Amino acid sequence: MNTDTRAPILCVVGARPNYMKMAPIIRAFAAHEPALRSLLVHTGQHYDAAMNDRLFADLDLPAPDVNLGVGSASHAVQTAEVMKRFEPVIEQHGARAVLVVGDVNSTLACALVAAKREVPVIHVEAGLRSYDRRMPEEINRVLTDQLADLLYTTERSAHANLAREGIDAERAVFVGNVMIDSLLASLPRAVPAEQLLSAAGLDPAVLAGGYAVLTLHRPSNVDDPAVLGPLVEALRQIARRLPLVFALHPRTRNNLERFGLLGRLDAPGIIVLPPQGYLEMLGLMSRAVMVLTDSGGMQEETTALGVPCLTIRENTERPITVEQGTNTLVGIDPQALLAAVGDILAQGGKRGRAPEFWDGRAAQRIAAHLAGWLDQHERSR
Ligand code: UD1
Repeated sequence: MNTDTRAPILCVVGARPNYMKMAPIIRAFAAHEPALRSLLVHTGQHYDAAMNDRLFADLDLPAPDVNLGVGSASHAVQTAEVMKRFEPVIEQHGARAVLVVGDVNSTLACALVAAKREVPVIHVEAGLRSYDRRMPEEINRVLTDQLADLLYTTERSAHANLAREGIDAERAVFVGNVMIDSLLASLPRAVPAEQLLSAAGLDPAVLAGGYAVLTLHRPSNVDDPAVLGPLVEALRQIARRLPLVFALHPRTRNNLERFGLLGRLDAPGIIVLPPQGYLEMLGLMSRAVMVLTDSGGMQEETTALGVPCLTIRENTERPITVEQGTNTLVGIDPQALLAAVGDILAQGGKRGRAPEFWDGRAAQRIAAHLAGWLDQHERSR
């Protein structure tokens, strides 16, 4: 295989939802003829074994070439630290381009450093908008897209969002969803839910009559006891009808402890687990009666799996999951959540269909397009 000898494409990951998006891209770059040389940079925004190492193994992601080790801090400090530590990586290794995925703080920080150094910025999963600027990710999305030279999108609605913000239509390319590339490639290796519970020392028989999977971590849901408290009470009620497997994010655990609410999860039907590996999450979701979540990625994964999803948020930046997929927005009103769960138990939920280009080949489309775009871009300079 020929390998490009030019400077590498710096591929940036920072937090858990980035890894499943990057894994297929790195593989597609290596498989492209000639191979597109890449360097994997981890900012260290997430660092726990549960939030990090295990997912790398599950996804067959190579160990990062560079780890910036920024860790947790306020948004300003975290973003600034990533910027400070990423600039020397460009100086040391050179950069044919910087490729960022998703909408976490590391995404914006590295895009900003690259743009100021006139390195082409490639944004994968561009153009998604919740139109809710209270969400830190929305700020990251809007600004990253303004900085990007090339924007790869997962659904066609993104193009209208980008046009509204004055972004030249020629810079945006619809390629489909790399997160679904990872899902389809990994599904055969998914860990069955019963196996997971046994391994955790729990009785898998509790799942026999069906179960729901639950995740919560958005600051808007978990940082305010006036919101989190009533949600926890609603979860206790739901769990009396359907066991709830709750994979507890560190932010949520910290806050439940701080607000004195952690003990309320010690209730019949609530199964609390630490953050799960990717293959465990796939195994849990694929067999669930429904998924309750405020995660962005899980809205997409449940659509691809055909499992009904109730999203505990007022809005979504992924409207195709509601229009074509299995997703229903229920908001944060506990009564609305209870009613929506009851509807699914009574009638079965949405089955949906797989959106266009959520077919396992999005990363290949990116590699093919990017190779041509970079050649042309470099010739025109
Ligand atoms: C970040 C992303 C969010 C993504 C989420 C997935 C931003 C703005 N937010 O939110 O888009 O959906 O990751 O998890 O980038 N912590 C640990 N171990 C870790 C990482 C974090 O214990 O490995 C704890 C720390 O106490 C930290 C808190 O969790 O303060 C929150 O972590 P942080 O990375 O700030 O934000 P997330 O809520 O994870």
